[in-house]
Amino acid sequence: MDHYAVFGNPIAHSKSPIIHRLFAQQTAQKMSYEPILVPLDDFIEVAKKFLERGLGCNITVPFKEDAFRLADTLTPRSKLAGAVNTLKKLPDGTLLGDNTDGIGLVRDLQHAKVELKDKTILLLGAGGAARGVIQYLLEARPYQLLLANRTVEKANKLVELTQHLGNIAAHAYQELVEPVDIIINATSASLTNQLPPLSKQLIVAGKTICYDMMYSKETTLFNQWAKQHKAGKIIDGLGMLVEQAAESFYLWRGIFPKTDTVLRFVRQQLMTN
Ligand code: ATR
Repeated sequence: MDHYAVFGNPIAHSKSPIIHRLFAQQTAQKMSYEPILVPLDDFIEVAKKFLERGLGCNITVPFKEDAFRLADTLTPRSKLAGAVNTLKKLPDGTLLGDNTDGIGLVRDLQHAKVELKDKTILLLGAGGAARGVIQYLLEARPYQLLLANRTVEKANKLVELTQHLGNIAAHAYQELVEPVDIIINATSASLTNQLPPLSKQLIVAGKTICYDMMYSKETTLFNQWAKQHKAGKIIDGLGMLVEQAAESFYLWRGIFPKTDTVLRFVRQQLMTN
């Protein structure tokens, strides 16, 4: 039996164990996958200990930067993201760090039939969550990617890091008053029950698509705002979670699991718990 895990703090409500168990069942892989609560100052020790016997792990908040430092080698996409959400033990015992968040977001958008090419996309936030997805959004060749952050300096830094990949520019929230095609919320504002200070003019009724990387049983605060202003479509981050998991699973096992049935199951579980 091969062992995998997800590390985080908190971790009790993580959906990753059920997602990976369903993937393993579907693809007939003999593997375990457990959630591990890590004390805030102890990630490196706990992860190293697990990986003596484990073949890989996922890493969630707040340890993705620690995992980045723990990895011996890094995929280009995790270097650009500055964070690692997947570690794989290589045959020589060293650790490969990867980041599957960006591809997870774009795959979920594809499944929802959201066209990115030639569109104006507004990405909210300039923390780890935003940084993890910029490369994949730019690879989809949007007309422009606007990056907005409360602390504009942080958005400027991210633009400097990624402008060689495509058309990206930093903005303060109050500068954004023209309609956009897609708004993606990568801020952590909803954790404190807040909304980024957005103008309702950003939304074209019936057209603009709003995507919140967060998910919850009830419509997220950002998606409530979007709905109130008659966004064309609202999507939450549960699909992204399943897609990033599928990419991690593929990295570890070399088999790409089907995600649609797993997403349906996890959605149903979220709604009934
Ligand atoms: P994560 O790894 O989830 O991205 P983070 O690195 O702490 O977490 O980044 C949080 C992001 O949410 C930041 O972009 C933050 O804006 P600042 O850089 O200005 O702090 C953003 N954020 C958090 N609360 C917010 C709020 N109430 N309104 C707008 N943006 C907020």
